[in-house]
Amino acid sequence: MLRLTGVHTHYGLSHILQGVDLTVGDGEAVALFGRNGVGKTTIIKTIAGWVKPTSGEIEFEGRQIGGWPSERIARAGIGLVPEDRRIFPGLTVEENLNLGFLQCVRRPSGAARREALQEVYANFPRLAERRRQNGTSLSGGEQQMLSFARVLLGKPRLLLVDEPTEGLAPMIVSEIMASLAALKQQNISILLVEQNVEAALKLVSRFYTVERGRLVFEGDAADPADRERAFEAFAV
Ligand SMILES: Nc1ncnc2c1ncn2[C@@H]1O[C@H](COP(=O)(O)OP(=O)(O)OP(=O)(O)O)[C@@H](O)[C@H]1O
Ligand SMILES: [Mg+2]
Repeated sequence: MLRLTGVHTHYGLSHILQGVDLTVGDGEAVALFGRNGVGKTTIIKTIAGWVKPTSGEIEFEGRQIGGWPSERIARAGIGLVPEDRRIFPGLTVEENLNLGFLQCVRRPSGAARREALQEVYANFPRLAERRRQNGTSLSGGEQQMLSFARVLLGKPRLLLVDEPTEGLAPMIVSEIMASLAALKQQNISILLVEQNVEAALKLVSRFYTVERGRLVFEGDAADPADRERAFEAFAV
């Protein structure tokens, strides 16, 4: 469903992505592993259109989306849960959630929106309890759930998730990983950047390791030798 071929991305004069080739299949979950600053977030942002590729091809469901504005990519079915969660200060949990509908191809009716919100609250009961609370007053784990829930209201078929468990307690990490597993069950494809290799390898079937703006290894999450390589991606 997603294929990157020879993608290069620059920030000004800095050449960050240096020819990235990557695929994510229909309903497949794939991880990106690698040390700080190797370009994992840049790969995610380039796919989502937050950063423009300078060359190469990005194909999603048969269409070339490279260079499209980020809103158009979101509406095409790619959801991004960014590293910093982007909870809007001064807005309640529910107001933050309502922003998720902006990514829908057609703006849903009031009744459809209420139904979708009920569904979110059933999946994330803590958000229901805190719906009238300021979004930024939530705990880190709850903010992460809000960020997920908001993106899901746009009904993405591919979810890009950047370090969702960073800085969270082990119990919350399991909750987040369980939510991702549930989404995979619903046939949503996932591209996950994650430092918790152990947890990520339970979710994904395949992974890539990233070094200096290139994918240097592709591994099978079920293969013991490949799994070693996943852990080594973080060795200094
Ligand atoms: N807006 C920017 N302008 C200039 N350089 C940037 C910008 N954002 C990132 N970089 C640089 O691009 C490189 C890749 O950054 P990126 O955030 O993609 O790495 P990462 O693998 O996600 O790292 P981390 O594990 O710390 O999240 C780094 O050298 C970083 O300093
Ligand atoms: Mg990053």
